[in-house]
Amino acid sequence: MDKIVIEHLSLQYADGTESLRDITMNIVANAITVLFGPAGGGKSTLLRCLNRLNDLTEIKTASGRILLDGDDVLDPKTDVISLRRRVGMVFARPVVLPLTLRGNLTYGLELAGEKHKSRLDEAVERSLRQAALWDEVKDRLGDPAIALSGGQQQRLCLARVLANQPEVILMDEPTSGLDPLSTGKVELALQELKKDYTIVLVPHSVQQAARTADYAAFFLQGELVEYARGKEIFTHPKNKRTEDYVEGRFG
Ligand SMILES: Nc1ncnc2c1ncn2[C@@H]1O[C@H](COP(=O)(O)OP(=O)(O)OP(=O)(O)O)[C@@H](O)[C@H]1O
Ligand SMILES: [Mg+2]
Repeated sequence: MDKIVIEHLSLQYADGTESLRDITMNIVANAITVLFGPAGGGKSTLLRCLNRLNDLTEIKTASGRILLDGDDVLDPKTDVISLRRRVGMVFARPVVLPLTLRGNLTYGLELAGEKHKSRLDEAVERSLRQAALWDEVKDRLGDPAIALSGGQQQRLCLARVLANQPEVILMDEPTSGLDPLSTGKVELALQELKKDYTIVLVPHSVQQAARTADYAAFFLQGELVEYARGKEIFTHPKNKRTEDYVEGRFG
């Protein structure tokens, strides 16, 4: 089933950069869709369109449509706050709030009006388990989040998104600053998470793309060159440019 439908999406930043050119693709529910390709291809721009983070940047023109379960994401009437609850985002650098571990996870729910301690406790444990962090931190939930290692902070940021029970999780190079062990934990967590969520991931390498992708989209200078199942694109790419990139002939 398609969770997100992207139709003829084009975007030009105010300085004239044409960052997305007529992108049409569907994002399948309960799967990991990877957006990969060289720097400047438009991967982050597309992610930011999906939860309207681009509202904060200067855009000259944007056209096309994005439908989330049929709801028009780019419609000016769309409530951006509730959209961003449905479509959560994890960034390359972990940004923890200056609160305790627990505080980081309950913040969003408390803002949304949740007061019951038992429900908050439940969300804290569930989200930490889903982010493969519970065992490491269950005895120190009252410690400042900043005291965690980088890899733990990144998983805490993932848990913070999960605590709000989104439908879609966007991840922009979430493991780029992490050691291989923490990277492995995040990748493992993703395999569990896709059972409950739709995941759109910009990986930090072709290798990570190949390891994680159920579906993969290759972006080059704002163009969607090839979109296929991960297995196909990394073993039998149809397009010459995809093949050259996957085989490391250009970066
Ligand atoms: N806020 C902005 N204002 C103007 N141009 C931008 C802005 N953000 C991105 N761009 C331009 O849009 C194009 C696509 O950038 P984007 O960040 O989406 O690429 P990317 O595929 O995520 O690259 P990377 O792998 O380096 O993260 C680039 O040419 C970039 O310079
Ligand atoms: Mg990027």
